[in-house]
Amino acid sequence: PETGSLSIVVLGASGDLAKKKTFPALFHLYRRGFLPPNETHIFGYARTKISDDELRSRIRSYLVNDKEASPEQLDDVAKFLQLIKYVSGSYDSEDGFRLLDREISLHESLKNSVEGSSRRLFYLALPPSVYPSVCRMIKTCCMNKSDLGGWTRVVVEKPFGKDLQSAEELSAQIGELFEEPQIYRIDHYLGKELVQNMLVLRFANRFFLPLWNRDNIDNVQIVFREDFGTEGRGGYFDQYGIIRDIIQNHLLQCFCLVAMEKPISLKPEHIRDEKVKVLESVLPIKDDEVVLGQYEGYRDDPTVPDHSNTPTFATVVLRVHNERWEGVPFILKAGKALNSRKAEIRVQFKDVPGDIFKCKKQGRNEFVIRLQPSEAMYMKFTVKQPGLEMSTVQSELDLSYRQRYQNVTIPEAYERLILDTIRGDQQHFVRRDELKASWEIFTPLLHKIDEGKFESIPYKPGSRGPAEADELLEKAGYVQTHGY
Ligand code: BG6
Repeated sequence: PETGSLSIVVLGASGDLAKKKTFPALFHLYRRGFLPPNETHIFGYARTKISDDELRSRIRSYLVNDKEASPEQLDDVAKFLQLIKYVSGSYDSEDGFRLLDREISLHESLKNSVEGSSRRLFYLALPPSVYPSVCRMIKTCCMNKSDLGGWTRVVVEKPFGKDLQSAEELSAQIGELFEEPQIYRIDHYLGKELVQNMLVLRFANRFFLPLWNRDNIDNVQIVFREDFGTEGRGGYFDQYGIIRDIIQNHLLQCFCLVAMEKPISLKPEHIRDEKVKVLESVLPIKDDEVVLGQYEGYRDDPTVPDHSNTPTFATVVLRVHNERWEGVPFILKAGKALNSRKAEIRVQFKDVPGDIFKCKKQGRNEFVIRLQPSEAMYMKFTVKQPGLEMSTVQSELDLSYRQRYQNVTIPEAYERLILDTIRGDQQHFVRRDELKASWEIFTPLLHKIDEGKFESIPYKPGSRGPAEADELLEKAGYVQTHGY
């Protein structure tokens, strides 16, 4: 591993994302020993004029619960917070960034006892509208200047644009300043344990290899549900809607991992080449394979316009034009304010031909990968009902991570991904052409929605979403199985 000074700069340090995700992830990495104090310094940067201690106290409650924490944890929190310094400045003027650069350089010179390079990581926990100016400032004022080598990397969060054109513009603006290996586009679903398991599952198990195709699989569902609404984020959400917020990125990444061909190696470029190929094989979305919904009460949020038609729920069917998947619907479904919080991939197999047991009504073989909560994989299959009669019943082979890996703490997605950025591993980050291909799939539909050509059907908060979505699911071939 590389050594030398490591400066992590969190831009937008007083914002929600930084407090809720970035700093806690850094704290966990620190506790696990990945951010050695003799090398690491963390800088918070934002416009608000506050002191180091004020930033530290704002972050603190997201790191630890004083009532439950052990003395060691409290001690770790105190030490971690001491690594953090705050610099205030604007996002579009050089003064603040020059000051930031001086602070980083000072830290680097103090760490000169450690032989090695200087590493500078800039995490943009900011709205994308300021990415171009912030990237320009970093490039002008804050690049690594060490003779001993090292690097400068930038981490950006979605939304990367609102459609193909705006995403391409953003990519071009950032691309003028940084090379692709310096840019880390985070999709935090790629940091989830069971998402990372997908390639292992598919390509390290003989079981699945011959079955994973149109001859055996009837349909695939990739589902995201939340049991709460937009909660204070209505203003942001209303400009984007559920397709841009969840489906075009998080669910599409899951889709890629289910549908892509085997990469020739685990090199990030090889994996991402295969993702791009499958994305480019997706056919245009058909209007009658889309259902949109909006939960009742969404417009009560004062930041949401009274007549908003923005979907908080969507079911969209993707069809892949290739040898493996022709005819197999991939049903991507996401919704806010539904009856549960869950994210899962459901692979449903075809009926057994010439069924002598008449077990069809009990349901099909289905393989379920539950990303959250309680990570699990289970397989629904038919067995003989134990007892004297020759009848059949649906049962499960169940691998629940909590039970099977009791002593392992599953890392948070952000923790893993930030570590990857420090290590320089882009496997779990979105490449520019991949981003483009994903916008190509959804842009025509998004434009139609923006033009009001689709209506968002109202649904009750706490429900399954509009009934029309279940009808679409059935039409696409999904058969509800019972028992689990
Ligand atoms: C974010 C979305 O990307 O993902 C949010 O902007 C959503 O709307 C969140 O709530 C869900 O993430 P997770 O990890 O809780 O499933």
